[in-house]
Amino acid sequence: MLPEVTATRYVTPLREGGSLPGLVEADDLGTYVMKFTGAGQGRKSLIAEVLCGQLARHLGLRAPELVRMWLDPVIGLSEPDEEVQGLLKASGGLNLGMDFLPGSLGFDPLAYEVSPQEAGRVVWFDALVNNVDRSWRNPNMVVWHGDLWLIDHGATLIFHHNWAGAQKAADRPYDASDHALAPFAPDVASAAADLAPEVTEELLDRCAADIPDEWLTDEPGFTDPDEVRAAYSRALAPRARTIHERITLGEPSKDRPSQAPGWLTGKGGDAK
Ligand SMILES: Nc1ncnc2c1ncn2[C@@H]1O[C@H](COP(=O)(O)OP(=O)(O)OP(=O)(O)O)[C@@H](O)[C@H]1O
Ligand SMILES: [Mg+2]
Repeated sequence: MLPEVTATRYVTPLREGGSLPGLVEADDLGTYVMKFTGAGQGRKSLIAEVLCGQLARHLGLRAPELVRMWLDPVIGLSEPDEEVQGLLKASGGLNLGMDFLPGSLGFDPLAYEVSPQEAGRVVWFDALVNNVDRSWRNPNMVVWHGDLWLIDHGATLIFHHNWAGAQKAADRPYDASDHALAPFAPDVASAAADLAPEVTEELLDRCAADIPDEWLTDEPGFTDPDEVRAAYSRALAPRARTIHERITLGEPSKDRPSQAPGWLTGKGGDAK
């Protein structure tokens, strides 16, 4: 089970996030980014955060540690923003906390170089979980102490919105043309050779075990939380074996700022 903490102070909303995550202090004196069950994306996006966050870290990718975070909406009473008030009121009980990386900067492809090996591992991982939200428009990565960290896995595991088609979804291709790391020549083949053998049903079961029961009860078509957990493992294990054959790295959408200006790279060329 994930460690458990209780929120003690709502500090501020993180305005860039569509789901309005909040910066929150907890009774372990830690500071966390809190993702709320009452947010528009609902508990499925929190389930995706847990499963992908745990899997990423088991595979040696950097992703902030996660905690189960209890919220008494009363801590937001002095919060002047009505939207935040509403979110806190709708999220009493169990929410997700993510270790806050203080001083981290949003990933900028023009300012931070990623090796083909690391880019390959991230692209392969995103293909596995079908992450549609790590594009150059919205990279959902930060740089902290000189390293690249993955955040925001809410928009993954799309198959869990339609369990009837989940097994077929395992065969779907992944178009990485607009991926934020596509310009770094991702070595997907090496990543697959290293990582795919690790993504066994056992590992997936261990990661799924960290999804709180509270978010898995009442899932239509399943009798109990463990049955839902097993369905995640069954969908992902076969995909891990073959997904590298179906990753496309084609031309990005036209408007990507793919070239660093010459004055920055020292290589000459147009600033675009
Ligand atoms: N663990 C963290 N440490 C530091 N900053 C973070 C962390 N998690 C998120 N952030 C900051 O908060 C912003 C919003 O977080 P996140 O992307 O997870 O929210 P979201 O609502 O899911 O966003 P989106 O709009 O991409 O759906 C990030 O872009 C980043 O700047
Ligand atoms: Mg985001």
